[in-house]
Amino acid sequence: MDTYPIWHPFTSLQSPPPIEIVSGRGALLFDKNQKSYLDAIASWWVNLHGHAHPYIAQKVFEQLNTLEHVIFAGFTHQPALQLSQALLAILPANFEKIFFSDNGSTAVEVALKMAVQYAFNQGEQKNTFLALENAYHGDTFGAMAVGERNAFSAPFQEMLFRVVHIPVPTEENLPQIFEKINQLQKNTPLAGFIYEPLVQGAGGMNMYTPEALNSLLQFCQKNNILCIADEVMTGFGRTGKMLASDYCSTPPDLVCLSKGITGGTMALGVTACSEKIVSAFRNSDSAYTFFHGHSYTANPTACAAALASMDLLIQAETQAAIRQISTWHKEFIGEIAAHPRVKNARTCGTIAAFELVSDEADGYFNTKRRQIEVYFLERGILLRPLGNTIYFMPPYCINLVQIQQLYRGVKGFLSNSILAA
Ligand SMILES: Cc1ncc(COP(=O)(O)O)c(C=O)c1O
Repeated sequence: MDTYPIWHPFTSLQSPPPIEIVSGRGALLFDKNQKSYLDAIASWWVNLHGHAHPYIAQKVFEQLNTLEHVIFAGFTHQPALQLSQALLAILPANFEKIFFSDNGSTAVEVALKMAVQYAFNQGEQKNTFLALENAYHGDTFGAMAVGERNAFSAPFQEMLFRVVHIPVPTEENLPQIFEKINQLQKNTPLAGFIYEPLVQGAGGMNMYTPEALNSLLQFCQKNNILCIADEVMTGFGRTGKMLASDYCSTPPDLVCLSKGITGGTMALGVTACSEKIVSAFRNSDSAYTFFHGHSYTANPTACAAALASMDLLIQAETQAAIRQISTWHKEFIGEIAAHPRVKNARTCGTIAAFELVSDEADGYFNTKRRQIEVYFLERGILLRPLGNTIYFMPPYCINLVQIQQLYRGVKGFLSNSILAA
């Protein structure tokens, strides 16, 4: 019998044993032998200000000593109120309410349910969604349904509700997309369009333009299709602006946030709602109520961590660090773009990515992944390639020496002739 007691996420039970991490500081993680790893992917894109940040730790400690948790129906508390205000301050002006949950998938699940009930409360049945090909929105059933249908969701295929996937918009394909939506709408009432703005994360760090997205959002809203921005990965400065949606002039109707919300400290998700959504639920008849919630909804400790992270995020120093990382990435991507082993080098804010040229198909199941991961781990760099897609998304506290270590590592990898394509 296998004596290791944990079943890890996205991990085959045949995988080699995981590395035990005992501490973290800034952009570094340390294992039990005190070997350090540069966290170049912000621990699954959650960490903004570095590990074990003393300011966040202090605020969490204070909150734990004041109120660790309280039921969130019939009761409220200052950390949630202050956080809601801080979030509304960075959301589009027409946003009115924050609904709390626990993670990115539940933030998406809430948005999908709200979109369906938005129609229901107005006497309409709309239960089909539009989503982008190659999307990833999480692993709960609704989130899986709107994601790309692939090996992740194959066992559950028959249980997923109807979603029409459209290509990622470009200036060239917009007319076909509009035509497809027009045709669909003749007999399929569409509850909403969900999308990862500007960068599709788990689908391979695919980047697309705000102009094309903006045209699609305008078209959807003109056709009464709610727009749901899944900013779980792109939120809180990742793409250079506070939200990726800020690059578009058309605001969404709902925004999902999680990951960086607590600076990577604790689990928290939110679904932010525009006034239009809220107004469809404002009715004394209980049938209009949004009957959804989780035991740990708006956990005060998580809200305190999020407030502390927001304090750090809006500091001029952090904003300068985001700009600096974006500049470093641009320069580095420019340097390696023409390398014969590099394909489609790209960057958006603090995210940079490229495909390693390989004789296998590009994508998550490309077997180069393990080779790349091991190469970098041996050199004290934590990367988690998406198949043959290598990307970086460091915490904003990464310094020049550390980013140079990362870039040097990548160049070394590219010039390593033993690692054949
Ligand atoms: C865009 C997007 N939405 C939703 C999710 C799901 O978030 P979580 O893993 O916190 O459930 C992710 C996770 O990677 C994501 O990238």
